Amino acid sequence: MSRVAYVNGRYLPHTGASVHIEDRGFQFADGVYEVCAVRDGRLIDEHPHLRRLHRSLHELKMDWPVGEPALRHIMRETVRRNRVTNGLVYVQISRGVAQRDHGFPAPGTKPTLVVTARAIAVEKYDQWAKKGVAVITLPEARWARCDIKSTGLLANVLAKQQAREKGAFEAWFVDRDGFVTEGSSTNAWIVDAKGVLRTRPLSNQILPGVTRGEILPLCRQLGIEFDERPFTVEEARNGREAFLTAASIGVMPITAVDESKIGSGAPGPVAIALGETYWSSRSDG
Ligand code: PDD
Repeated sequence: MSRVAYVNGRYLPHTGASVHIEDRGFQFADGVYEVCAVRDGRLIDEHPHLRRLHRSLHELKMDWPVGEPALRHIMRETVRRNRVTNGLVYVQISRGVAQRDHGFPAPGTKPTLVVTARAIAVEKYDQWAKKGVAVITLPEARWARCDIKSTGLLANVLAKQQAREKGAFEAWFVDRDGFVTEGSSTNAWIVDAKGVLRTRPLSNQILPGVTRGEILPLCRQLGIEFDERPFTVEEARNGREAFLTAASIGVMPITAVDESKIGSGAPGPVAIALGETYWSSRSDG
C-alpha cells in the first residue's frame, strides 16, 4: 500500500507529494512541528500536543494553516488513509512560500501544512525498553529557544548521529555548568542516589515535552518523590536509574551514560512502573 500525505488541502501518494522550492521550511527551517503517538488507532495526548503547537506558532508569530478542528480531522484522516494502528502522526507547518528573503513574507502568505503518518513496530520499542538503552553526552549546541518545537533541528540531528555512531540510542546535551538539558529528541530523567526522581524544570532550554507533562502527575499517583531540578552527568552516573521520555517512545530506561553503567545496569523499577502506568492510563481513554 502506498503511503499518503496531506499537503495543503490534498491527500497525495508520497511519491507525488511535495512542497515548493521556495518554501520557507526548506529555505530557512522557518517552521514548527508536532509528533503524536498512535496506539490502537487512537491519537495519544492529542490535546496537549495541539496546545504546544498553538504555543510554538504563537511564539514564532505564525498563523494556523487551518482551524484546530480541521487539523484534528486531517490528522485522523491521515492515520486512517495510511491504516496506522500503532505509529506516529507528524504535523509540519512552515511560514509558507515566498521569494527568498530573511524577513517575514507579506501578510496573508499561506502557511504550508503537511501531515504524514507511519506505522512503527511497537514490539521493537518494547524490546529496547526491556533491555534499556545507552546515551552519550555532548556539549549543548542549540539555540536559545529550545522551548519552541521548531523544525530547525540541525544540532539535534548531528547529536543523534553521533549517538548512533557510538552505538547509543540518544545523546544528552549538557549545558556550560555541567547540567543535562535534554536529549536530541527526548526529555531526560534520573532517579538520583537518594532515590528522588529528577528532571530539569521548564525553561527556554528544553522542550516542554508532552510525555514529561503527563508523567509528573503519574508520579504523584504512584507515590514517587520527584523534584524538577537540573542534574549533572556525574549525578546521573551515580544515580539509581535514568530514563528518557518522548511521544515516540513513552518511557525508555537508560542503562549506560557514556559507557558508565547506571544502577544495576538493568532498567530500574521507577522507569518500568512509569512506562507501564503511562501506556495503561492512555489506553483507558
Ligand atoms: N521529539 N525534547 C526534544 C528536543 C524533542 O524533540 C522531543 C520530542 C521531546 C519529547 O517531547 P514529547 O514528549 O512531547 O514527544 C523532548 C519528537 C518525538 C521528535 O522530534 O520526533
